[in-house]
Amino acid sequence: MNTRILLKGGTVVRNGLIERTDVYVVDGKIARVAADVQPAEGDKIYDCTGLTIMSGLVDLHVHLREPGFSSKETIATGTAAAAHGGFTTVCSMPNLAPAPDTMENLQQQLDIIERDAVIKVLPYATITRKRAGDELVNFAELKPYVAGFSDDGTGVQTEEVMRQAMVEAAKTDTIIAAHCEVDELLRGGYIHDGEYAAKNGHRGICSESEWKQVERDIELAAEAGCRYHVCHISTKQTVELIRQAKARGVKITCETGPHYLTMCDMDLKEEGRFKMNPPIRSAEDRDALIAGLQDGTIDVVATDHAPHTAEEKSRGLERSAMGVVGIETSFAVIYTKLVKAGIISLEKAVEVLAEAPRKIFKLGGGLKEGEAADIAVFDLEKEFTVDPDTFLSKGRSTPFEGWQLQGECCLTLVDGRVAYERK
Ligand code: DOR
Ligand code: ZN
Repeated sequence: MNTRILLKGGTVVRNGLIERTDVYVVDGKIARVAADVQPAEGDKIYDCTGLTIMSGLVDLHVHLREPGFSSKETIATGTAAAAHGGFTTVCSMPNLAPAPDTMENLQQQLDIIERDAVIKVLPYATITRKRAGDELVNFAELKPYVAGFSDDGTGVQTEEVMRQAMVEAAKTDTIIAAHCEVDELLRGGYIHDGEYAAKNGHRGICSESEWKQVERDIELAAEAGCRYHVCHISTKQTVELIRQAKARGVKITCETGPHYLTMCDMDLKEEGRFKMNPPIRSAEDRDALIAGLQDGTIDVVATDHAPHTAEEKSRGLERSAMGVVGIETSFAVIYTKLVKAGIISLEKAVEVLAEAPRKIFKLGGGLKEGEAADIAVFDLEKEFTVDPDTFLSKGRSTPFEGWQLQGECCLTLVDGRVAYERK
């Protein structure tokens, strides 16, 4: 067993800087980040010439499906997929059975993580019991074991319940990660209420169903003074609301996903792999999200990796399950479509995929001496075609299938252990 690993001759991207330097890992920690580290006898040396080294990526929004839905994904397969994508920490969403709404129910997930996870997994607890939107969970009891609190999958419909949740979040210094969606505005929709839906006879999900609840929550968060994070934002109005809230000093952060930044509704096909909630919206929304990423309104890119079985995704746009996988393509999509295209810098990509999530969720770590050796190494020159058959996830349904991308993960270290290595 090698306890010392030298990543030699690579390019390190961190904290807005790019430099040629070695990274030396000793006993699971980053011991040195310096040029020309001399290896000792017995060190495992990785030749990183031509490769790019960054802090392990962090995905704040993944569905690992255990306990309860292991035909879709397991903690073993979901974390193997995450490591394949360069991720060293993921936060797992609580739409599970049982939902992590008490210590006893959360413990079931923690036990599977302990047994099967190949990277770090921090669960979310629910905001309300059974994610039913009525009765709050015990924030103080659950807080030490979770990334934050979320009823992801559905919005918290009752204003007073969200107000109380935010008061609890402020009291216990935790974060609310909100899936914002007003149920009564859904009207049976399942893709974006726009040109594609109109032309092809589909029922649409209006943008207001998202931004109305964000608008409500911003006022509640301002009142409670809690940390408030908006999940998977998809509309131009949401971007503007958050931009203004930040300018007012509200403690708000948000994420969007690679698919919302790189596609619009007119890219849809009549296949379940284009269906997720919130839906891929108009070109104008996409462009507003890009502008929000560029100006810092959007803090984080998170995938909403949401695997389902092949059968559940085989029923076309109207009848397939909501959700697509994304953790094995996230970096390459962002690198190819945003960095290579000159829309954001590589340093910014590392910020939104790794550094900002650590900071907002107070996860610690990062590529510096003394921290845990959670590291991703990418070959930015490597081109490939997205082929779901190469995924380690059980989920295979992705709108990126067939895309030509660049930027492949070659090595993922978690606490200095190899969690993924390209063959
Ligand atoms: O597309 C989605 N899939 N949106 C959600 O809100 C839930 C998720 C899931 O759990 O499949
Ligand atoms: Zn959600």
